Formats: sequence, structure tokens, C-alpha cells
Amino acid sequence: MTKNGASQDSGDTMTHLDLFKKYKRFNPLESSLGIVGFFLVTILFIGCFFFLDYTTVVQGLRSRGFLPGLRVSSLSSSSPSPSSLIEDARAEFLHQDGDSCDVFSGNWVWDESYPLYQSTNCSFLDQGFRCNENGRPDSFYTNWRWQPKDCNLPRFDARVMLEKLRDKRLVFVGDSIGRNQWESLLCMLSSAIPNKTSVYEVNGSPISKHTGFLAFKFEDFNCTVEYYRSPFLVAQGRAPPGAPKEARMTLKVDQMDWTSSQWKSADMLVLNAGHWWNYEKTLKMGCYFQVLEEVKMNMSVEDAFRKSMETVIDWIAREVNINKTYVLFRTYAPVHFRGGDWNTGGGCHLETLPDISPLPVSSDNHFRTVFDVLAEHLKKSEVIKMDLLNITQMSLGRKDGHASIYYLGPNNGTASMQRQDCSHWCLPGVPDSWNEILYALLLKRETLRTRNMTQVSQVPP
Ligand SMILES: *[C@@H]1O[C@H](CO)[C@@H](O)[C@H](O)[C@H]1NC(C)=O
Ligand SMILES: *[C@@H]1O[C@H](CO)[C@@H](O)[C@H](O)[C@H]1NC(C)=O
Ligand SMILES: *[C@@H]1O[C@H](CO)[C@@H](O)[C@H](O)[C@H]1NC(C)=O
Ligand SMILES: *[C@@H]1O[C@H](CO)[C@@H](O)[C@H](O)[C@H]1NC(C)=O
Ligand SMILES: *[C@@H]1O[C@H](CO)[C@@H](O)[C@H](O)[C@H]1NC(C)=O
Ligand SMILES: *[C@@H]1O[C@H](CO)[C@@H](O)[C@H](O)[C@H]1NC(C)=O
Ligand SMILES: *[C@@H]1O[C@H](CO)[C@@H](O)[C@H](O)[C@H]1NC(C)=O
Ligand SMILES: *[C@@H]1O[C@H](CO)[C@@H](O)[C@H](O)[C@H]1NC(C)=O
Repeated sequence: MTKNGASQDSGDTMTHLDLFKKYKRFNPLESSLGIVGFFLVTILFIGCFFFLDYTTVVQGLRSRGFLPGLRVSSLSSSSPSPSSLIEDARAEFLHQDGDSCDVFSGNWVWDESYPLYQSTNCSFLDQGFRCNENGRPDSFYTNWRWQPKDCNLPRFDARVMLEKLRDKRLVFVGDSIGRNQWESLLCMLSSAIPNKTSVYEVNGSPISKHTGFLAFKFEDFNCTVEYYRSPFLVAQGRAPPGAPKEARMTLKVDQMDWTSSQWKSADMLVLNAGHWWNYEKTLKMGCYFQVLEEVKMNMSVEDAFRKSMETVIDWIAREVNINKTYVLFRTYAPVHFRGGDWNTGGGCHLETLPDISPLPVSSDNHFRTVFDVLAEHLKKSEVIKMDLLNITQMSLGRKDGHASIYYLGPNNGTASMQRQDCSHWCLPGVPDSWNEILYALLLKRETLRTRNMTQVSQVPP
């Protein structure tokens, strides 16, 4: 296996260099095609980019009523182009005709009304995500909006979301990509709060990648937006007495993380796992898998991940009050190392534009395992009491969204080319789009509930 994984961290800390697993990419630009191919594709990308730019601007003006009759069509003014017909036919996700819309299927469109915030205006980001402040020269990656194929998402409105969260707790649990998403949401929400000192960490802790628990209170709304670091979601601890001596630690794949009692009463719970379920962060570090009291010296990482996912889903079914708690599981966030792995000099620092061609459905094991476990439960006709934030595929095209060499902090220059971060995301950036979908799902859930209540109350006695 790859070397160097263990030297970077001791099971409890995750640095931005903890980039682990090469994503199985389908990249047309292999080195054999060489520079000519690269330039051709770049020119193509830029061409598409300007086209998208133009379309969106015109559509933007049209939707604001400035250009009532204008269609984005070539030459013929009498027949609207198919694309503008589709545009016009799109349902609003929150309306009834948007009920069946799969918001995760769509594409990225250029939109100059993005980003939703500036990193310089948000004190809740740790420096590793502040790419532009850390020297990243391009900012195209902040201007893409996610457009579902069959419906329109509501525009993110921080005050509406905060109002929904009034007197409530929203909790993110997972690895540092979960923290990436949590920090993104803190910035998105706090952009609507003029008095920044009314948003604070309840224990006064600074945002740090090493902290296991952070809760930010939005005082005006009496709500907290929290993050629990739990990269495996299941319990990790010292190996039981009598275990083989290679097993220094174990992951109890049949038992939830010790802190789960604190998250289960949240009003909204966003879980994720995946990036730590690999050989380097488990077996190689002497962390084996345990079921009941037995250390399963032969259990593979893949089997252990599957077992832990079953544990998580059983726990939700058993322990979480779904009348109160809205549970979501965010699927695996793709990484984009080219020309090597995270620890063998792979990189992404030259990527400035997304892949806009459709990509094959992700074959990543972490992605598949989650679906397999869910499918098995569904086969047994069990009700799955959670929603998926199914973001793997939509994020697959965003090879331009990562911190790459711009994660060291504002005055520290760039990182070594051999030490790139192609797993965490620059902010503002891709996780903002996950959170816009989170927002849309939250509102959708409320409208469905209200609609049901109205229907019930309209039933004659
Ligand atoms: C950032 O803050 C400045 C100064 O407060 C403000 O003028 C600007 O609109 C803010 N930008 C965004 C995107 O919120
Ligand atoms: C704030 O929210 C909590 C629930 O999270 C609730 O128990 C408490 O009464 C609220 N405080 C105020 C002042 O409304
Ligand atoms: C801002 O919030 C802080 C903390 O709640 C409060 O002490 C201060 O008075 C607020 N400032 C303004 C201008 O409202
Ligand atoms: C574990 O694997 C080894 C080698 O593959 C095998 O000899 C042994 O029987 C296995 N042990 C168990 C408990 O499955
Ligand atoms: C959830 O609400 C339903 C209907 O109000 C009720 O029948 C059920 O017992 C509740 N479940 C729990 C766990 O409170
Ligand atoms: C999640 O997205 C993938 C790719 O877009 C799709 O194949 C899969 O069916 C989706 N799963 C669910 C449960 O929505
Ligand atoms: C430079 O990086 C070090 C850690 O590598 C960090 O502690 C420090 O805060 C960074 N400096 C700045 C100005 O961000
Ligand atoms: C609303 O009612 C429909 C059936 O009428 C049901 O399938 C759906 O789960 C309900 N939604 C909620 C949020 O209660």
C-alpha cells in the first residue's frame, strides 16, 4: 500500500494534508495526449464558458423583466430554442409540480450573482479554505450555480433559513469535509446578520481543525449550528485486553460514536463518512475492527465500513425521534488528484473550470456502500428515516473547486506541488451548493408537512 499515511496524523488529528484516496476519474486529459490536447480542450472550455455566461446574463435580464420577448436562440426569432423551452417549463422545486424533481441531477451554470458571500467577510472559515486569500489567482470557481435538470431551486435566503431554525439545533457530524460544509453554512447564514458579535461559539473556542466539537449560536434566532468531529461515526477506542498486540486501537463497528447521545436530540442532523474509511487511517495505524468484544483481525476496511453504515441506519431507526429530527446523510465528496495520489504528488492546482460534459456515475466504493446498505433495508420494507444529500455525482465535475496549493494561510505562500489538497474545497465554493440544496430540502419538507395538515383539516368530519 502507499506509504506515508501514518506519519501524518495520529488517528485524532486531521490536517489538510490528509488526502487519501485517488478518485477513479475518467479524465480525457491523460499525459499521452500532451499539450496540444490540453490547449484544444481549454479553448473549448473557455468557449462554452462564454456561451454559458451569455445565456445566463440574458436569461437573468429576462427573468427580471428587462427583456420580455427575447429568447436565447440562434438566429431564428420566431421559434424558441429547445433549451429556452426547457428553461421555461421547469417547475419550482417548492411547488407541487416540483415534488418529483431530483435536485441532484443537473448541471453547473455560470451565474455572476454568485458567490453568496466573500471569505473576507466571514470570520468563521479556517484558513485552509480561504483559497483566494491564500493566493489562488482565479475565482471562476466561485461563480457556478447548481441547476437541477427538472426544477429550479429556491434562491438561498439566510433569514428564511434562520427563521426555520429558530430555537433549534442544526448539527453536522462527520469528517473534515463535513466541517468544510459546516463552515460554508456558517458564512452563508451569518451574511444576513449585521451584528457579527451576536454570532459566537458557545464555549468561546476558536475555529480549529483539531477541535472535536464547536457550536455557533445565532443569538437573534436562539439557534445553534454545530459540528461534531466523528470521521467514522462509530466508536473508536483502545483495543480490549487480550487482543493481538498489532491491534493498538479498535473501531467498534457495531456501536455509535460515544458523542452520539449529544447529537441525537438535534432538530436537524447532517451526517457524513467515507474519507477515513481506508487502509491508511485504520489497519495501517494499528486500528482494527471490533464486533461485540471480539477484534476481527481479518475484517476488511470495506466490510467494516458497510457494517458501520448498518449501525448508523439502525441507530437512526431506533434512537432518533423522527418527529423531531430531520436526518440527512451526505454522500461521499469526490477528490480530484491527477498525476498521482494524495501522497505521491497528485495535484489539481491547474484546474480552473469544471467538467461540463456528463460524467459516468461514480463507481467509488464509499458511494456504493451507502446505497447498498440503504437498498438492503428497503428490500426488507423498512422505512428509512433519513434523506440523502446525494452530492457525489454533482461534485464530480468540480475538479476546479479544491484548495490545491492554496491552503497554508495568507502570508505563507503556496504549498509544495507535491503536497496538494484536492479533497477539501475552497470557500466560497462547492459546499455552498450542497447547503443550498440542504436549504431547499428543509423548506420542501415544511411545505409537504403543511400541505398534509391542510389536507387533513379539509377532510369533512
Ligand atoms: C462584504 O463586506 C463589505 C463591507 O461590509 C460589503 O460592502 C460587501 O457587500 C460584502 N460582500 C458580500 C458579498 O457580502
Ligand atoms: C432557546 O431555544 C431552546 C431550545 O433549543 C429553548 O429551550 C429555549 O427556551 C429558547 N430560549 C428562548 C429565550 O426562547
Ligand atoms: C451586537 O451583539 C452583541 C452581543 O449580543 C450585543 O452586546 C451588542 O449590543 C450588539 N450590538 C448592536 C449594535 O446591536
Ligand atoms: C484470517 O486469515 C488468515 C489468512 O488469510 C487465515 O489463516 C485465518 O484462518 C483467518 N482467520 C479467521 C478467524 O477467519
Ligand atoms: C410521531 O408522531 C406520530 C403522529 O403524531 C405518533 O403517532 C408517533 O407516536 C410519534 N413518534 C414518536 C417517536 O414520538
Ligand atoms: C444518487 O445519485 C446518483 C447519481 O446521480 C444516482 O445514480 C442515484 O440513483 C441517486 N440515489 C438516490 C437514492 O437518489
Ligand atoms: C502560516 O502557517 C502556520 C502553520 O503552518 C500557521 O500557524 C500560521 O497561522 C500561518 N500564517 C498565517 C499568516 O496564516
Ligand atoms: C404527506 O402525505 C403523503 C400521503 O398523503 C405521505 O406520503 C407523505 O409522507 C406525507 N409527508 C409528510 C412530510 O408527512
